[in-house]
Amino acid sequence: MDGVALSDLDTLVAPLNFLVPMAQKPVAYNYEPPPGIPVRTGESEAHQVPIRDARPLAGQLSLDREGFVLLHHRSAVKDFYDEDEIRSAYYPECEQVIKAATGASRVVAFDHIVRNAVMSAIEGSGIKIPAKRVHNDYTLSSSPQRVRDLMGEEAEDLLRHRFAIINLWRPIRGPVLESPLTLCDAQSLCEENLIASDLRYPDRTGETYSITYNPNQRYYYFPKMQPDEPVLIRCFDSGLEGAARFSAHTGFDDPTSPPDAPPRESLEVRTLVFFPPQA
Ligand code: OGA
Ligand code: FE
Repeated sequence: MDGVALSDLDTLVAPLNFLVPMAQKPVAYNYEPPPGIPVRTGESEAHQVPIRDARPLAGQLSLDREGFVLLHHRSAVKDFYDEDEIRSAYYPECEQVIKAATGASRVVAFDHIVRNAVMSAIEGSGIKIPAKRVHNDYTLSSSPQRVRDLMGEEAEDLLRHRFAIINLWRPIRGPVLESPLTLCDAQSLCEENLIASDLRYPDRTGETYSITYNPNQRYYYFPKMQPDEPVLIRCFDSGLEGAARFSAHTGFDDPTSPPDAPPRESLEVRTLVFFPPQA
């Protein structure tokens, strides 16, 4: 990152949870597994990791390099807890924002997660708690698989050209003072730390990367994020090479959180991003 030196950035140190390297492929269930089957295999271990305030860098971040950017965008959505409004009004908004930010010719929002630790207790709500393991949502194989799953007959044609999977992550309430999101500079990731892991749903098995610890990984966050400050997280880009095609991110326990900080509320929307064919 040119311009601002890393040593100029405010830094906190927080525990992040990484996968302990293991022989088998890790498996996690996104639903109540059959009796006797653990919800997740694989141990995680916390490492104390420096996490830098990326606000001074915000103007120079790029999806193609770091794999994340901070935007300014105010949503017209009134109720982020209204599933119908999310799909009918917010998905198209996210598609437009990502189109403008990337130059993509087509963006298709296909999935979302609302996170709120208090409301996650409501059965059947689908609301989740913040993630507390470093991960990437898609892998080299599950990224094109999502295109095949979702784009029907168009899929093989679309897969001939550059495509990406990008999440738009936004606080529902601000400022975020608890369990903020930390993002790894994709350029600091190594292939050996990306561990393909099964994620079982009732009807299919997805694949994510669990991340093992490497002191070379550089982590950032944006303190006190507001609802008009979405972050784009580039989970995959077929136009890039090596580990830098992916990303790594997680919520984390921020030691600087005030003790009475309200629980973080956020919404992430996942999108398929298709670029125009190169001349
Ligand atoms: C994501 C994600 C974690 C969180 O947006 O893909 O993993 O705690 N978020 O919000
Ligand atoms: Fe994620």
